[in-house]
Amino acid sequence: MNELLCCPGLRVSRKGLRRIYLCDDIPVETLRSAMGTPGQLLKRSKKSTVRRVNGWVLKSTHGAAKHTLHRSRYRRHWVAAHHLQRHGVRVARPIAFVEKRLFGIILENTMVTEYLDGYRNVEVFMAALARHGAGRDTVAIFLRGLADAVNRLTGCGACHADLSGKNIFTRDGTSFVFIDLDAVELGREYTRALRLKNHIQLYDSFCDILSDTMLVPFIQRMIPEGSDPRVWLPEVRRGQTERRKRLEARRERQR
Ligand SMILES: Nc1ncnc2c1ncn2[C@@H]1O[C@H](COP(=O)(O)OP(=O)(O)O)[C@@H](O)[C@H]1O
Ligand SMILES: [Mg+2]
Repeated sequence: MNELLCCPGLRVSRKGLRRIYLCDDIPVETLRSAMGTPGQLLKRSKKSTVRRVNGWVLKSTHGAAKHTLHRSRYRRHWVAAHHLQRHGVRVARPIAFVEKRLFGIILENTMVTEYLDGYRNVEVFMAALARHGAGRDTVAIFLRGLADAVNRLTGCGACHADLSGKNIFTRDGTSFVFIDLDAVELGREYTRALRLKNHIQLYDSFCDILSDTMLVPFIQRMIPEGSDPRVWLPEVRRGQTERRKRLEARRERQR
């Protein structure tokens, strides 16, 4: 048994075509019942459907008739969630991971996590701070906490390929929770290019609301020692302009 998939506090069970990895305190019947409930749709995309069923979020990756060689990719969310939890990085609590497979082919998988009730993503949170006329100090404290949370995430061997503010949640602006962990790779070197990509994603989340007076210290807090901010920040700004163009072109195509 892969220790990353099943460790103390977790169990694995098989039901028909399904293999279920589950926290010990969750009855398998409760999980089955949630999986059979339509709940409230949170997001549907080409690759996945995300829905809320009571206190849980179920993210199903469908049409994934990929060979088992690709299995580790589909298990990333579950494995990363446990790794991050163990390292004190806040994530939506992983409840279960269900693989539906036939002859070694994964037909569908579902990641079940705790629903972050009362939380908002940090873009929405920041917009609310601005609307309510929050002062510079309040915004600076918020951004400092966020940068520290990102540093904790990247400091424990996790690379998040989609570190947009839409994937970071907060309730109080001081503590931060990461979601969308299928974009997390463990044990991959956090290269300059990956770090830059993350900073572009984060800068893009706030640059319509905040000026560089606030954003430069934010980005600087996540730059490794020895990097020159006079080189790094122009690269972030350039990257953000390109990212925005790309996203807008994609949105246009989808209209
Ligand atoms: N644990 C959670 N608690 C509350 N909302 C969530 C949670 N997980 C996902 N969501 C909501 O569902 C949306 C889509 O989930 P996400 O995992 O980010 O999927 P995608 O890969 O399509 O971006 C998120 O942007 C968020 O609004
Ligand atoms: Mg997302």
